[in-house]
Amino acid sequence: MCGIYGYTGYRNAVKIAIEGLKKLEYRGYDSAGIAVLEDGTITFAKQRGKVAELEAVSNTLSNDARVAIAHTRWATHGKPSEINAHPHLDTGNTLALVHNGIIENHNELRSMLQQKGVKFVSDTDTEVVAHLVSHFYSGNLLEAIRESLKLLRGAFSIALIHRDMPGQIVAFAHQAPLAVGLGKDEAFVSSDPNIFSPYTREVLYIGNGEIVVAHKDKIELFNANLERIDRKLETLTSISSDVSKGDFAHYTLKEIFEQPTSLLAAINGHFINEYGTANFQGLTLSSSDLLSVQRILILACGTSWHAGFLATYLLEDLARIPTQVEISSEYRYKNPVVVPGTLVIAISQSGETADTIAAVRELKAKGAWILAICNVESSTLTREADNTLYLHAGPEIGVCSTKAFTSQFVVLALFALQMARMRHLSKIEGQEFLNAINALPNQVAKVLDIAPGIAQLAKKYAHFDNFFFLGRRYMYPTAMEGALKLKEISYINANAYAAGEMKHGPIALISDNCPTVAFCANKQTYEKFISNLMEVKARSGPILAIAEEGCEGLEGIADDVIIVPKTLDELAAIPSSVAAQLFAYYIALCRGADIDQPRNLAKSVTVE
Ligand code: G6P
Repeated sequence: MCGIYGYTGYRNAVKIAIEGLKKLEYRGYDSAGIAVLEDGTITFAKQRGKVAELEAVSNTLSNDARVAIAHTRWATHGKPSEINAHPHLDTGNTLALVHNGIIENHNELRSMLQQKGVKFVSDTDTEVVAHLVSHFYSGNLLEAIRESLKLLRGAFSIALIHRDMPGQIVAFAHQAPLAVGLGKDEAFVSSDPNIFSPYTREVLYIGNGEIVVAHKDKIELFNANLERIDRKLETLTSISSDVSKGDFAHYTLKEIFEQPTSLLAAINGHFINEYGTANFQGLTLSSSDLLSVQRILILACGTSWHAGFLATYLLEDLARIPTQVEISSEYRYKNPVVVPGTLVIAISQSGETADTIAAVRELKAKGAWILAICNVESSTLTREADNTLYLHAGPEIGVCSTKAFTSQFVVLALFALQMARMRHLSKIEGQEFLNAINALPNQVAKVLDIAPGIAQLAKKYAHFDNFFFLGRRYMYPTAMEGALKLKEISYINANAYAAGEMKHGPIALISDNCPTVAFCANKQTYEKFISNLMEVKARSGPILAIAEEGCEGLEGIADDVIIVPKTLDELAAIPSSVAAQLFAYYIALCRGADIDQPRNLAKSVTVE
């Protein structure tokens, strides 16, 4: 899993490659490297750590080089180290390549090559490809790639330079994203076409088993049998904006504070007040298609899965449609039964999560119709889904998802409203629900106003190493998402449970050294929840409650309370989650963690 980048043209290739890698760091940041081809010689630089560390040593490479490939890594095979960093070269340094994905049969191929006398220097699966292509090379690189492709198994995209092919980057892919951009006298190769946009918006997407040769003035595309393919370039619709932190210390904090705006962007234009309903102009399903939906299946990973989990409550509660949410990586291997009348919703901020894309492909092969909810235009998911509802949240740079989560949920809430209004929900009820949705941006702004108070509380709780996060009904997925934020950015063990489940085992862990963050904003189950908190209190567990204004009965139970504005139970996840995001952020700050790029994580997980 990683970001790959290539440049051929007239500019300083090292500079362009570093600039590209910085934008690809969301795909991994445990090591980085560049190789350049100049006068028939390949030279390279690699560094453990982030792209900034590579940049610091990149002056060893020639400023005159006009062809480069580059890589930012999230380790899969082999620990993060300089030796395992890409690019990987063959024995004679005749070629260098960078790789995104996993070569599943790398052990088998490694043994085969070792028997032929090849000496490996790294622990990676990628190095196998460098030696394999070199093994098959006898003057025709495309032939060597064709032979290699016959043996390689897994999901991968690879960009390669060869000393016999001046000015060219050769790339190939199987089940992993790869795009080539063609500018004026320059071409780019990457896992993510959005990063080409300062230079070109004309892109070619490379499909399974295809091989592409990028020259500075043309692109040649071949299938796995080396037959030429004539495919038109597509024009990128989105323009990636350069994003800065502004006055904020971290992107994560900036993105938490952007939520009043990002929520507005997700809501605006998608409702009709007069009819008390939602309306997505981009939705290509007709009213009768929507009415024929009998079941909904939601697929997602990580934070997106939490948004989907929340939506299961809402779609069943409000629209009375049986809804199930599945973790993409699990669902795929369940041999699922997809009954007629099922609408599949795939949720992904990035649109590049390999597990979600794989599950979508599996379901498409079974004839399912896929609705994506996504933040990134032209991403793989949006190109593979039948239809996409966009979040319009703007780029999310912090690795832990914040504004995308609240936008995902609000889009799902609007969709649930539309489905409910088409079925049994009255206009008045729909209008009440819409009013509550429209109040959310201001309510979130009020939570942000109390950030200094939450920062103070975080100081009090930052020394604990174990937490419980509890909730009932809508507050259960909310607690799960809150706990994930704390784990991701503070490296604190946080267990999320449905409060009623505590007595079935987890309560054994409660002590004065293990606080509970209690999500109280579900009015329907409030009394039962208070009883659960009493059980925690009786065992000396400290309690920090996140509760709605006007709620009663927490005195003597909660040690501390964060008060958030009152809304419907169905929407309370949003103000409560923003409070939990701030709590996790300030704890991470107290503990000196790398908040925007936490250890071991990546923003976009592009391997299964
Ligand atoms: C990674 C990110 C999470 C994200 C998850 C799913 O694990 O660190 O923040 O929720 O991937 O990503 P997606 O882009 O599919 O929403």
